[in-house]
Amino acid sequence: MLPKGGIPLTLYDLVAPGLDLRGEPRYRIAEIRAADPLGADAMLAALPAMNAAADVPALTVALRALVPDPDRVAALSVVDALAAMRDLGILLGSLKRHGTEPVPAVPEVLPVLEELGRRTDMVPRDTVHHYTTWNPLGARQRMYTGDRMEASLQDAVRMVFPSLVAALGTCAELARLEPYDPGFALCLDRTAQHVQAMVDSIDFTVANVSPVFFAQEMRSYFEEIDVAGHEYLGPAAAQVPLWLVDLTLWQCDRSNPKYDAFLRESVQYSLPSWRDHYARHQGGTSAVSKLSAAISWEAVDRLPQQLAASAVSLARVLRILKTFRARHMTIARKAYSEDVRLYDMGSGGAPIELLRSVLDLTRDNETLVRRSVERPNTP
Ligand code: HEM
Repeated sequence: MLPKGGIPLTLYDLVAPGLDLRGEPRYRIAEIRAADPLGADAMLAALPAMNAAADVPALTVALRALVPDPDRVAALSVVDALAAMRDLGILLGSLKRHGTEPVPAVPEVLPVLEELGRRTDMVPRDTVHHYTTWNPLGARQRMYTGDRMEASLQDAVRMVFPSLVAALGTCAELARLEPYDPGFALCLDRTAQHVQAMVDSIDFTVANVSPVFFAQEMRSYFEEIDVAGHEYLGPAAAQVPLWLVDLTLWQCDRSNPKYDAFLRESVQYSLPSWRDHYARHQGGTSAVSKLSAAISWEAVDRLPQQLAASAVSLARVLRILKTFRARHMTIARKAYSEDVRLYDMGSGGAPIELLRSVLDLTRDNETLVRRSVERPNTP
């Protein structure tokens, strides 16, 4: 589909209109996708061929050719700076995939990565958002391999971004409410609608991306790189901020040390306003804890109607999260099975066992909420 200006849209852009009207440059997705501040379009169209040939000299020359001079970086808008990081980033990951640490290979890129990180208030390398949401569609799409399955993996992440942004709003509102408030169940029902996109996304992934392709073709492009003595992870789907939803539902006070540590590491790869959301709610009381406390004061067979509605809605969102995680774990297990995997660790820096532990936490919280409204004699 080609609307005014010739920028292709996906169905999901149409489902979540208005994101770019919020005054946040990072949500001006169409503009970021359209931007080519380094004049990289032609060079990056040749990237899949360079990667297929493992042509490190050509990749090094390409990266060196794209590095802008400091005056140029200083003049970039945030929209252009995000696009510039996207275009340098895909070359960083490509070089690393072929065994070359990119910053020592092209030292002049270091001050540029640091400045682009500062300008955009993000880490000094590309993230999953650069690689997917901010990546153009159609002929200008930046890809490591050019494979249809890589495009599907990118689409799977693209399709959840607007929903997660919307869920951030409903979850922040939820944190201000008590389970007796009518708005509590309403916020949860809206959140449930948004989170359903994660289930759609993993179903789409299972249908279109083979675990062997992920494990043996894609995984190596998401390796960490060294930027001034600090290791930064590649633009992997594990950075998709589902934690934005977990945080106020249950994670802030009902987590475990492994998931806490994973989140602390992951949060740095997210947008500034999302990091603020994390800082604001980290020490708060979760929806599950508020609901459990409220129910403990009531007789189960005479629960106020509003409280029962809140519990039903909370259990529903947790069930959707559980469904995503169960299906996601099935594909992740296949990709990291002994006979298929090239790496022991996930590209988000955690082992596969993390997924089991987060699924267990999600399921335990869902069971707790569901049981709290079941009558004692209900089988
Ligand atoms: C073949 C496809 C995929 C595989 C093999 C895979 C594998 C993994 C693995 C091993 C982890 C553990 C952390 C780590 O990587 O270090 C992880 C985490 C995660 N992945 Fe994926 N993943 C895939 C696709 C996706 C997609 C399409 C999404 C979302 C649109 C996604 C969202 C997440 C999230 C949110 C986490 C953090 C843990 C959680 O919240 O449960 N993954 N993934």
